[in-house]
Amino acid sequence: MKEQITTLLNEVEQFATDSKEQIEAFRIKILGSKGVLKDLFAEFKNVPNEQKKEVGQLINELKEKAQEKVNALKEQLEGLASTNANDIDLTRTSYPFELGSKHPISIVRKEIIDIFSRIGFTVSEGPEIEDDWHNFTALNFPPEHPARDMQDTFFVKNDGEEMALRTHTSSVQVRIMENTKPPIRTLSPGRVYRNEAISARAHCFFHQVEGLYIAEKVSFADLKQTLMYFAKEMFGEKTEIRLRPSYFPFTEPSAEMDVSCSVCNSKGCNVCKYTGYLEILGCGMVDPNVLENCGIDSKKYSGFAFGMGIERIAMLKYKVNDLRLYSEGDIRFLSQFKKAF
Ligand code: PHE
Repeated sequence: MKEQITTLLNEVEQFATDSKEQIEAFRIKILGSKGVLKDLFAEFKNVPNEQKKEVGQLINELKEKAQEKVNALKEQLEGLASTNANDIDLTRTSYPFELGSKHPISIVRKEIIDIFSRIGFTVSEGPEIEDDWHNFTALNFPPEHPARDMQDTFFVKNDGEEMALRTHTSSVQVRIMENTKPPIRTLSPGRVYRNEAISARAHCFFHQVEGLYIAEKVSFADLKQTLMYFAKEMFGEKTEIRLRPSYFPFTEPSAEMDVSCSVCNSKGCNVCKYTGYLEILGCGMVDPNVLENCGIDSKKYSGFAFGMGIERIAMLKYKVNDLRLYSEGDIRFLSQFKKAF
């Protein structure tokens, strides 16, 4: 009899189902009024006295286990069908609510705009698909001029007309100059495109902020002072700037600006490639041809322009070593900028 009960205990333990009918059949078989337990209790009187205690305990154990099993299976079944309203704890604190973060490019773009808006610059925007005039010709890139190769361009056809994905936001400045009387003091932030192989240091699109100031008697000294103000606001009071002669078709003279390396305090490190300086932007005095192309009297007005890549500034600020990280949307990268706003 002991063996019979042990076998039954095993059977109870192993029984599993998610069918209501099978649970009921199991209940009737073991616990029902004509069930196994009933028979066992009936036989119990024939058990020799010295075994009664042990066998009695086993029968009781079987009864309890069977009842527990039936209850557990029933509960499980109800849980699947619907959550019991009594099981919902309305006082429990909710799961933490994940907030997104601003993209580093957005953070830096805002910072650049904030710095220049404190000295009177406004923001202007224009189309990303540009015609040849606004992206090149008005900016002193004559047709077939080799300077057009400086910025490898993506071309698209629009109703038969060849258009370019703008290679810089200087195109927006042309539009502003065409439509606004000086004085002009504006920034044009936006996405630009260049036909370059994607690598850690180059991408087929990136973001720029270009600036333009046109008024009477604007000089190179104004440009230098404005950029110095920007560099100190952006990279810290101790930052020094360095202007190197350069070439752009739309500015004359032209320069590139470096800032002292804030990583090593100009002592030389691998970020500044041991030069102590980091190149951050191109600039110059707007070429009189460009002013005339846009209907501005170059005898009366002069101006300066500058342009910088936001990715580059963000790379220096946050020590990002691969441009591709900006556009891959990897949460592990992006969530690091949570505290930044
Ligand atoms: N348009 C230039 C570029 O995209 C930057 C620049 C702007 C240089 C204004 C000089 C003056 O590289």
